[in-house]
Amino acid sequence: MKPFLAIFCQLVIATSPALATSRPTTAEKGMVVSQNAIASQVGVDILSEGGSAIDAAVGTAFALAVVHPAAGNIGGGGFLVYRPNEGEPVAYDFRERAPAAATRDMWLVNGTYDSTRHHQNHLAVGVPGTVAGLHLAWENEGKLPWKRLVEPAIKLAEAGFVVSHELSTSLKRVLPRVKKYPASVAAFSKDGVPYEPGETLRQRDLARALRRIAEHGPDGFYTGETAKLVAAEMEANGGIITLKDLKNYKAVLRKPIRGTYRGHEIISMPPPSSGGTALVQMLNTLEGYDLAASGFGSAENYHRYAESMRHAFADRALHLGDPDANPNMPLERLTSKVYAGQIRSTIDPRKAGKSSPAKFEWPHESNETTHFSVVDAHRNAVSLTYTLEWSYGSGIVVPGAGFLLNNEMGDFNPALGMTTAKGHIGTPPNLTAPGKRMLSSMTPTIVSKDGNLLMVTGTPGGRTIINTVLQTILNVVDFGMNAQEAVDAGRMHHQWLPDRIAVERRKFSPDTLHILRGFGHDITEISSQGVAEVIVVDPKTGQLSGGSDRRVADGAAVGY
Ligand code: DON
Repeated sequence: MKPFLAIFCQLVIATSPALATSRPTTAEKGMVVSQNAIASQVGVDILSEGGSAIDAAVGTAFALAVVHPAAGNIGGGGFLVYRPNEGEPVAYDFRERAPAAATRDMWLVNGTYDSTRHHQNHLAVGVPGTVAGLHLAWENEGKLPWKRLVEPAIKLAEAGFVVSHELSTSLKRVLPRVKKYPASVAAFSKDGVPYEPGETLRQRDLARALRRIAEHGPDGFYTGETAKLVAAEMEANGGIITLKDLKNYKAVLRKPIRGTYRGHEIISMPPPSSGGTALVQMLNTLEGYDLAASGFGSAENYHRYAESMRHAFADRALHLGDPDANPNMPLERLTSKVYAGQIRSTIDPRKAGKSSPAKFEWPHESNETTHFSVVDAHRNAVSLTYTLEWSYGSGIVVPGAGFLLNNEMGDFNPALGMTTAKGHIGTPPNLTAPGKRMLSSMTPTIVSKDGNLLMVTGTPGGRTIINTVLQTILNVVDFGMNAQEAVDAGRMHHQWLPDRIAVERRKFSPDTLHILRGFGHDITEISSQGVAEVIVVDPKTGQLSGGSDRRVADGAAVGY
């Protein structure tokens, strides 16, 4: 670069930090945005070979199970929302299920709640759904052979891949927790010595388990050797998942939750996720305010967000659970504009509402998961969020099969009536029962406008997921941000109980927080919220823009 030009560029960068740091990745044909660049590339290779968005999603998901073991998985579960360019959107539910021997009170020992059982040992493991879900989606919408889609993950597991700084740090963090499980130590360290950045991580047992899936589809996971290894691990350690539980697992095709927001169509995940329902309820509530006029970052808007969140999370607790166990959930009412109007009428523009575990106060009558977004050349779109629940799930690697089991049973409510100010929920719809799917917050979402794809969004983050997705949509629709800006912008969270707003540190002005405190909000600062992976389609040119979340280091928007 000529010296003059170099100085000029520095000047531009120095004087326009927002522009320099917030440019999205662009592409013409197709794109995958995930939390790991290797996995995004696997997906884009599939797209450029003529694979569909679903093909790319399947390949990316299997690759993430190898290169992002904290959340990418075959031993967990999740949700996929699919919007074809022509035809009806659908939602794939591959949430884990409680084993047949599960009971409502299994988290109580002599009447006292035992959090270890609920979250940290073999009882915390739900019957995994990921392999069945990916296969069902592929059966319906795949173009390339199944084996082709699993192959990149097998190669990454067999030949290994270079450990990044981020992965090395994360493996070092999890080692003490999993040291009681020899197969976990073997999978994620060199005989107990942590991997350093730049070293190669090989996962040979995982490669063999993936090969069985490539050869036999779901049967290569839910029956045969892998199933036997899972059942044996359970039996030897007080777990209750049996061969029969595995064989009986089925993924389900569901109708997405649909809503509208300022002329945009919202397509999101129905129960057993609470995500879509709560998201549409909050968008309906916020539609009644002129958010753009109040301005991005204003206390007035954050107060509106917080109150909408408070109501949506209380309704989540009161009404939502597995639809197969709760056939009469009032989804239509919760997602109606009329109900949103009633909620709005209870919101004081200058005063925080109150959340109480004992009482729902409005007019009822009248940290680990991963998300990725895919768009193909035909503008078919996939929004997929899946999880092991905690980072590295239960921490239990299945001996001989090399993959981590989830601890998703922790998403069931702990005990009837155990609703506390700290945030435990004890309402009936999400109590544990045999075969039941635990309530989730995962919110894979697609937005369209005038019949055309506009946005694919989603994130990890437990209950914060719904609110992060909400804010990415508001950032694009109300504040005109591009995909990267929408992802970078500061995030906040309120979940009814505990009754407080959490804000990302250094991303909110002290003046704004002062005003919010003056309205009566309790405010706490957190280091970061979510890892959103977003694609936005330019309505005029059709160009794709990807925003990958820089709150973590390894993500990437890759296009072609
Ligand atoms: O399904 C759910 O809502 C949770 N199990 C997701 C957990 C999660 O996002 C943790 N990640 N950061």
